[in-house]
Amino acid sequence: MKILISGAAGFIGYHLAKQLCQIKKFNVLGIDSINGYYSKKLKKKRVSLLNKNKNFFFKNINLNNKKSSKLQINKFKPDIIYHLAGQPGVLYSFKNPQSYYKNNVLATKNLVKIAKELNIKKFVFASSSSVYGDQKKFPIKENFKLNPKNPYAITKLKSEKIIKKKFIKTKIEFIIFRFFTVYGPFGRPDMFIHKFLNSIKKKNKIYLHNNGLNYRDFTYVNDVSKILKICLTKKLNGKIINISRCNPVRTDKLVEYILKLLKVKKANVVKIPPVKGEMLKTHGSNKKLNLFFGNIKFTEIKTGLKNTIRNFKSTGF
Ligand SMILES: NC(=O)c1ccc[n+]([C@@H]2O[C@H](COP(=O)([O-])OP(=O)(O)OC[C@H]3O[C@@H](n4cnc5c(N)ncnc54)[C@H](O)[C@@H]3O)[C@@H](O)[C@H]2O)c1
Repeated sequence: MKILISGAAGFIGYHLAKQLCQIKKFNVLGIDSINGYYSKKLKKKRVSLLNKNKNFFFKNINLNNKKSSKLQINKFKPDIIYHLAGQPGVLYSFKNPQSYYKNNVLATKNLVKIAKELNIKKFVFASSSSVYGDQKKFPIKENFKLNPKNPYAITKLKSEKIIKKKFIKTKIEFIIFRFFTVYGPFGRPDMFIHKFLNSIKKKNKIYLHNNGLNYRDFTYVNDVSKILKICLTKKLNGKIINISRCNPVRTDKLVEYILKLLKVKKANVVKIPPVKGEMLKTHGSNKKLNLFFGNIKFTEIKTGLKNTIRNFKSTGF
């Protein structure tokens, strides 16, 4: 089976590729533009680790470039596409909304078109909990009214709509997963956990938005990549499914856990008011996920943090 992963130099794409390469009969092509939104060194490190697998291939492709993307992907002829490439980050989306339109909406449009022309079997898309915005009821179910409150969320929702519209009348199976705050080894340096680890290392200030009272449904990356792998064997056409641990943690508690694991007594933590466009609480229902995938045993936050910190100490990422 030939599998294409877009965003393979990215955090989740890397873990998924690693997971899929364990199956020797799979051929995995990872594509990524290796953009400079965060450390290119980290992205290249992930690719170099993946390149150790005989069944992994990498191509530097920007999905905004329709012609060359088509040419390269047509050569590989994938059966399955995992579309994880994109421009993430909530706060940066107010500063540079154009990048979100290009790398989320246009990139998705281009890849969907290529997938249709190649008549692939399955298209799996990484959407985000941010499409829900602030909700009053928890845990958040997939059928709740959507309320995107920043350009990132708007472009993820737009991408979902493109996928639905373009695949609905075809034989291509499509599945949309909405991820909730994914963390783990080689995690994104723009997200809280790695930002915090880097700030401690460099003795810099770290800002706790909403005075540390935001809740996030932290979900360990290996759980996510395992679910994405199992999805190969499931018939889930047209389904939208949350991937969440359904057990949110308050940011100030998370800070305590991390300091304890690091055996550090104090950090330069500065509490600040809520930040525009950020959700106050993410807490996703995983009832639908468990219904289709059997009861998933999610990794405990402290175990996930321990693994993340161990990797940070040994690799610097
Ligand atoms: N990490 C999370 O908590 C989280 C939560 C919800 C949704 N998601 C979604 O999951 C996906 C993966 O997230 P991640 O955390 O691994 O992010 P990431 O930024 O680490 O990975 C995305 C990768 O896509 C690449 N990319 C961007 N635009 C591209 C383009 N035009 N062509 C080719 N490659 C391009 C980037 O270089 C990057 O390596 C993203 O679509 C993100 O929106 C992530």
